[in-house]
Amino acid sequence: MSNSKRIYLSSPHMCGLEEQFIREAFNSNWIAPLGPNVDAFEKEITELVGVKAAVALSSGTAAIHMALKYLGIRRGDVVFCSSLTFAASCNPIIYEGATPVFIDSEPESWNMSPKALLKAFIDCKKEGKLPKAVIVVNLYGQSADVDGLREICEIFKVPIIEDAAESLGATYKGICSGTLGRFGIYSFNGNKIITTSGGGMLVSNDEDAIDKIRFWATQARDEARHYQHSELGYNYRISNVLAGIGRGQLIVLKERICQKKKIFNDYQKAFNDIEEIEMIPICGYGDPNYWLSAITVKEESNVKPIDIILALDKENIESRPIWKPMHIQPYYQKYRFYSHNDGEASIAEDIFNRGVCLPSDTKMTDEEINKVISIIKQLFN
Ligand SMILES: Cc1ncc(COP(=O)(O)O)c(C=O)c1O
Repeated sequence: MSNSKRIYLSSPHMCGLEEQFIREAFNSNWIAPLGPNVDAFEKEITELVGVKAAVALSSGTAAIHMALKYLGIRRGDVVFCSSLTFAASCNPIIYEGATPVFIDSEPESWNMSPKALLKAFIDCKKEGKLPKAVIVVNLYGQSADVDGLREICEIFKVPIIEDAAESLGATYKGICSGTLGRFGIYSFNGNKIITTSGGGMLVSNDEDAIDKIRFWATQARDEARHYQHSELGYNYRISNVLAGIGRGQLIVLKERICQKKKIFNDYQKAFNDIEEIEMIPICGYGDPNYWLSAITVKEESNVKPIDIILALDKENIESRPIWKPMHIQPYYQKYRFYSHNDGEASIAEDIFNRGVCLPSDTKMTDEEINKVISIIKQLFN
């Protein structure tokens, strides 16, 4: 292993302004899972993405859980979810005792395939058991091609939960990622484009829904002098200290997107002449936030994704395989899966088998980006 400074996939990048909000929390002794930073963070997100209401939570996972609970998902219900994602997208389906059905990616965007979605709907309709929700994931910072998916969901009258954990700041046809479904969720986990160390946000234009979820997520305390509970509660709020970090981070979100885009463009330019490497496709319908720069290596190449990961690792550089699709995860493989192409290997598996997420850390210097590029180029020479 090299002794040089580690280059990360995507690590927290503080701008310094966070400290002012944290200091305010300390000075006012608002060290609690609510407070002025939490309220302001919610308001700032609603203004940024153009949505009526938001509730700040302890994680993106909690946000998905609360959206499912609000939509009445319970034991025996079916929920559709993108297969090519992180397990947190679908784990809350299991929390509520429901059954996930996984939907393949389309090759154009790597996100949910409308073709596979329609097949799943048709089968479920025949069986007399439509899903109660569809969780559409925006992978690596790029929105799914939502119009086609929404059209299908509208035919069957099933709401979309947009998992925009990775795509805060991205747009789809000019509209902000996370605001295209009935609910949208963001994650502020340490590796995301902005972070609160850990945290999440649920957004919706349905203000009553957000109010109800805020109540559940704050331990479902009835209005009474004593502790009284008429419903099951959750301890899912974010702390006022962490929301302060989020407020500072929001100020530099645009800057972070520009930095991520530059990293992507540098890779794209550098690998342009390597026939065996393809960048994650960028679709013309919107602007991604370029959270992670991912590539695929052509099947016939002698260089495999693992060779790239190991060569970078040897130089103390972090990279990562593409998310392993949910339908081939040991825990989830017993659930149904609908593929994009009939009778062929799924698109999600193909991307997983041939893909790598490259270092996309906004703190990388040009020299460090060039180092990553030159290590990869050497493998293909
Ligand atoms: C696609 C996706 N969904 C959900 C989550 C869950 O977010 P959190 O880690 O904030 O619970 C993440 C990231 O962690 C994610 O990448």
